[in-house]
Amino acid sequence: MADLEALKRLAAARALELVRPGMRLGLGTGSTAKHFVELLGARVRAGLTVEAVPTSEQTHALALEAGITLKTLDELPELDLTVDGADELDHDLRLIKGGGAALLREKIVAAASARMIVIADQTKLVDRLGRYPLPIEVAPFGIVSTTLAIERAIAAAGCHGSVTVRRDKAGQWLITDGGHHIIDASLTRIDRAEELALALSSIPGVMEHGLFLGMASAAILATDAGVRVLGSLD
Ligand code: A5P
Repeated sequence: MADLEALKRLAAARALELVRPGMRLGLGTGSTAKHFVELLGARVRAGLTVEAVPTSEQTHALALEAGITLKTLDELPELDLTVDGADELDHDLRLIKGGGAALLREKIVAAASARMIVIADQTKLVDRLGRYPLPIEVAPFGIVSTTLAIERAIAAAGCHGSVTVRRDKAGQWLITDGGHHIIDASLTRIDRAEELALALSSIPGVMEHGLFLGMASAAILATDAGVRVLGSLD
């Protein structure tokens, strides 16, 4: 298999071809999105004019360093194109996101975009979602009650597995950019993703979950055999 970083950069480079002068962009988070930000920065330094909204403090810092003009989503509430990575995607362009703990802002930005394009290496494509633990962003207040409700929702949607609160490098419960925690649900397989998404969204302490369903219009997958596109890039 080719070098994964090279594949990620290849997918990012293909996505860059979709960017037009004057576009309002959403910038994703993670190691694949980082390649896109770097490549976009090079184009900006060569004269391309775009405005962009980052999906995390991490991407904000990267994009600033790359020389990209940044706006808040409140300044730029409607976007033309968001390019973001994914932890997992299936053949119907359903995604699991949030491995980088940025899922809440990522979903808000994707929803504000006319198009969301996923960039990924070939390892992210699965036949059935669930191999990657599903991140669920929750309010700190009442986290034990919220966790119990999440466990009930998971069981009701026909899934099995354990949930844990994600920890940071210091061993503390991780705090997201929005001041929340992340619960990771190790489910192995998610057969009824729409049902699970609906059930999780109805729990008051759940700020957002990492199932991105019906949001991506296409995925650019970099494989050993070259770039493969799922969906439509138009
Ligand atoms: C961030 O919260 C995530 O949704 C990322 O988009 C996802 O984890 C993909 O990251 P990599 O490109 O680093 O795999």
